[in-house]
Amino acid sequence: MNGKKIFVINGPNLDMLGVREPAVYGTKTLADVRSEAEEAAKAEGYATEFLQYNCECKIVEALHRAYDEAAAVVINAAAYTHYSYAIADAVKMLSCPVIELHISNVFAREEFRKGSVISPYAGVVICGAGTYGYTLAVKAAADKLRNA
Ligand code: DQA
Repeated sequence: MNGKKIFVINGPNLDMLGVREPAVYGTKTLADVRSEAEEAAKAEGYATEFLQYNCECKIVEALHRAYDEAAAVVINAAAYTHYSYAIADAVKMLSCPVIELHISNVFAREEFRKGSVISPYAGVVICGAGTYGYTLAVKAAADKLRNA
């Protein structure tokens, strides 16, 4: 097991996975997604810190902690993706690999979802793969770390 963890940070309303718009986000719960992400990370030799917050400040603080403690960060900032410069600035200061993740294909949805203030600071952006995107994101993080 590698020393530092892969942080998987989730934003608002993702605690409602499973009941929230299942046609868009699927039927798996956040607990299901967490198990899958943890399993994928373990297979790559990493432990995970899996977090979900509905408020911006807690996400910013988790990113500050990631600065010292994370090998890589997977972030689904949910709606904050589209407008939170505070989260974008906190992502920008990280030197570890950052994977931006969205369950849905944000480009096939409402106009406001097409823009991300985080993408300029993410090495990888994954969207539209459903909750399997968490497994893909963890694998992408491990691949970035292998090739760093
Ligand atoms: C999301 C897409 C966002 O537009 C939305 O606000 C979310 C989830 C996704 O995972 O597809 O809450 O980030």
